[in-house]
Amino acid sequence: MTATFDADAARRDFPLLGKTFRDKPLVYLDNASTSQKPDVVIDAIANFYRETNSNVHRGVYALAEEAEAAYDQARKTVASHLHASPEEIIFVRGTTEALNLVSQSYGLSNLKEGDVILVTEMEHHANIVPWQLVAEQTGATVKAAPIDDLGQLDRNALGTLLNEGTKILSLCQVSNALGTINPVAEIVAEAKEHGVVTGGGGAQSVPHGSIDVKALGCDFFAFSGHKAFGPMGIGALYGAEDKLAHMPPYQGGGDMIDKVTIEQTTFAAPPQRFEAGTPNVAGAIGLGIALDYFNSLDHEAVAAHEQALLEQATAGLSALPGLIIHGQAPDKSAVLSFTVKDVHPHDLATFLDADGIAIRADHHCCQPLMTRIGQTATARASFAFYNLSEEVDRLVKAVSRTIDCLR
Ligand code: ALA
Repeated sequence: MTATFDADAARRDFPLLGKTFRDKPLVYLDNASTSQKPDVVIDAIANFYRETNSNVHRGVYALAEEAEAAYDQARKTVASHLHASPEEIIFVRGTTEALNLVSQSYGLSNLKEGDVILVTEMEHHANIVPWQLVAEQTGATVKAAPIDDLGQLDRNALGTLLNEGTKILSLCQVSNALGTINPVAEIVAEAKEHGVVTGGGGAQSVPHGSIDVKALGCDFFAFSGHKAFGPMGIGALYGAEDKLAHMPPYQGGGDMIDKVTIEQTTFAAPPQRFEAGTPNVAGAIGLGIALDYFNSLDHEAVAAHEQALLEQATAGLSALPGLIIHGQAPDKSAVLSFTVKDVHPHDLATFLDADGIAIRADHHCCQPLMTRIGQTATARASFAFYNLSEEVDRLVKAVSRTIDCLR
């Protein structure tokens, strides 16, 4: 039997969750956008600047050694969270930078005219636009595998698109706008039969459970720290050793070189080759602490708690007049996108804000998906382990009152 998750206790670790906004206790339901941060992460960042601040890979003094040891430990923590080796982990600003790195390094050096880069209709712009940029540079084409009306990938159509013309497949593990969980391991195995190089976007999956990139089988995997209870401006890219070894640098500068003359440069081995300039040391340390914190929780109990919140919210909201839930895949993460007939999502979100409830309402950086579902925007409530059943009640009641008021 799965243990019950004590969300009330977990909330005490997150100072911001105790605040009031608009004179109401905050109900924070925009976790897919960014998560709140526990005290241990906030303290780790402050402590770094108070006690350990020094550049890394440059100083021979004791303080620099301490900073470097903490930075190296953060890389090991991220590697262990993803079941990868530290040499396969590159610190980046977040998922967006990771995908730009893969497209401008692996993509630019391997794609040619006529090649196909395959994404899906449910992708975030961060997994579309970088591919369009490299397609323009190389003469490749970007195609999208379609989704069905429930918001699941159309596996037959995807299978047809996985042919010898397709060189790269890049897809999210969980859709930020619909919550759909994609069976990445199965899809990657199918893609590999056709020699397709694969990338997984983990921005929305890492904050909800353990990830094993070797079991997923993908060549690349990216996530952002700030959605996983860590700081903003830090994230990680996993790249399989056999891919990183042959990839050219993404940016040039200090710390990524082997030897430099005015005529030419030879480069450091991965991951240093991809980390030009002074890195976000405090951010990396904060991310490591955030993952340690998350891994101290019972992930099975977390998953059961989040699913219960999703089910409660789905049942409560779908009973309201004129409300449509977008994304009804059987396998869903705790993301709930909805529209109400004759009510603009922005108006809905503004009314909820008056009740101290924070949700996101727009296209969620998924304009092609919005076109597919025939909307320009949706309202989206997204849950984390620290959300409570009472907060779902407040959401449903507030949406109900808004509908009464605006329709
Ligand atoms: N990608 C983030 C979201 O879905 C910002 O809200």
